[in-house]
Amino acid sequence: AVERTLSIIKPDAVQKNAIGAILGRFEAAGLRVIATKMLYLSQEDAGGFYAVHKARPFYGELCAFMSSGPVLVSVLEGEGAILKNRDLMGATNPKDAAPGTIRADFADSIDANAVHGSDSAETAAWEISYFFSQREIFSR
Ligand code: CMP
Repeated sequence: AVERTLSIIKPDAVQKNAIGAILGRFEAAGLRVIATKMLYLSQEDAGGFYAVHKARPFYGELCAFMSSGPVLVSVLEGEGAILKNRDLMGATNPKDAAPGTIRADFADSIDANAVHGSDSAETAAWEISYFFSQREIFSR
């Protein structure tokens, strides 16, 4: 089925000048960028986005990192977009990421891991609505 997923190119990858390289991988895999914008998240913005992780020990560091520089948030659309994006990203920890994945090629650590992608259809709908209004999304 055609799905939508929320992608974030994190501060480390933006700093590395890798926005184009990463978006290019999505497009080459058949995903379409149907919304995108650059944002500088506050700690509160990041905290709200990652509220599901509030009780985790890494929550504070995660929110600090995600608000340490600009990010690129995008909506990707395509056949099986959620799993396709996760396959392209590779494992959360770059040490475990398969060769050729975005995290293997661009991530430095489990915190500075280059990209985020929605993990389910329910999460994707919520994450997309966190950053985008309907007017900002341009489906085919
Ligand atoms: P992301 O897919 O953006 O979702 C939550 C983020 O928390 C994750 O990527 C990692 O960057 C970060 N994180 C830090 N430590 C951990 C951990 N132990 N398990 C999962 N995520 C972690």
